[in-house]
Amino acid sequence: SSLKIGLIPADGIGKEVIPAARTAIEALGSDIPKPEFIELLAGWETFTRYGVALPEETVKILRSDCDCALFGSVSSPSRKVIGYSSPIVALRKELDLYANIRPVVSVAPEAGQTPAVDLVVVRENTECLYVKQEEQIITENGKEARATRLITERASRRIGKMAFDLALERQRKHLTIIHKSNVLSVTDGLFRETVRKVHTFPDAEGKYDSVSVMEQLVDSAVYRLFREPEVFDVMVAPNLYGDILSDAAAALVGSLGLVPSVNAGDDFVMGEPVHGSAPDIAGKGIANPIASIRSAALMLRRLGYTKGADRLDTAVDQVIREGTTLTPDLNGKSSTTEVLDAVLKKL
Ligand code: NAI
Ligand code: MG
Repeated sequence: SSLKIGLIPADGIGKEVIPAARTAIEALGSDIPKPEFIELLAGWETFTRYGVALPEETVKILRSDCDCALFGSVSSPSRKVIGYSSPIVALRKELDLYANIRPVVSVAPEAGQTPAVDLVVVRENTECLYVKQEEQIITENGKEARATRLITERASRRIGKMAFDLALERQRKHLTIIHKSNVLSVTDGLFRETVRKVHTFPDAEGKYDSVSVMEQLVDSAVYRLFREPEVFDVMVAPNLYGDILSDAAAALVGSLGLVPSVNAGDDFVMGEPVHGSAPDIAGKGIANPIASIRSAALMLRRLGYTKGADRLDTAVDQVIREGTTLTPDLNGKSSTTEVLDAVLKKL
């Protein structure tokens, strides 16, 4: 049978890097079931055309016809637009993709260009400030805006379990809980306490005993990330901190254009580069496709297609190591297509 992959390029460079990832997947041949791609709509452009950022049809097809999906990036405006809401945030909720797993790895630290980074940010993907319950009122002193920050035991526990499970698979088995409980002792306190408890949870039955647990306040975590990134292995964080930390970590390894992610739930998986739609370079054909190709690899790996995933990762690593065919974000002169071609040659 075939592997049905929903493709949602969305906006900006998403339209350039997702087709590249598609071509890379197609090049895997018999290492994966024959891929069948289903193009689906979402994003700002979809909103401006059809008045809806995430068509019901897209969610329906993902649910009923797809084994997995790849998402590009959306161009969400920074101002309030009536009727618009980020489709990626909505999609993560709709499909209950409660974990965003973001490995950040430096490929050639020996070359001295980037520090030795090998960590994975495990970002809670459904709540925190991203529940988007905001309101603005007018008081006698002017406007006042509020946002709800939701942290639940249920979501903290399942992201905690996911993080412990990932730590178990890794050589160092080291987990850092990121929070700001010194200030937000109720919300971040619940996150911290719940993740800590996963370690000793009755149904864990000693499963996680080999995982060492540390914690770090989010601000000093960024500081340590830049001074001694090697102390981190798995970092688990509430939604907003995880979002910020992973972009920061991306800077350490050279570019956002290198860092992949996978949105995972208990029964669906969606690959997605960590970067956004990059309006500054969109349409120029110079977006780095590596984050998306690596996201495809993560997606395949989670589905159990280890060989296909390994081949994609190895090919990408070789291209980065050689350093002759790189996009401008990595100080190269090559285009998206040239980098893709270099990857295809290694495959
Ligand atoms: P961004 O990630 O799009 O860009 C930040 C910087 O990194 C830019 O200089 C960009 O050129 C560079 N960059 C990003 N990906 C690259 C790649 N593959 N190759 C080469 N250079 C790359 O973040 P920004 O500028 O803050 O956001 C732009 C738009 O993207 C906004 O509308 C935002 O809402 C949206 N966004 C969407 C996300 C998603 O769909 N999941 C995630 C983050 C932002
Ligand atoms: Mg982000």
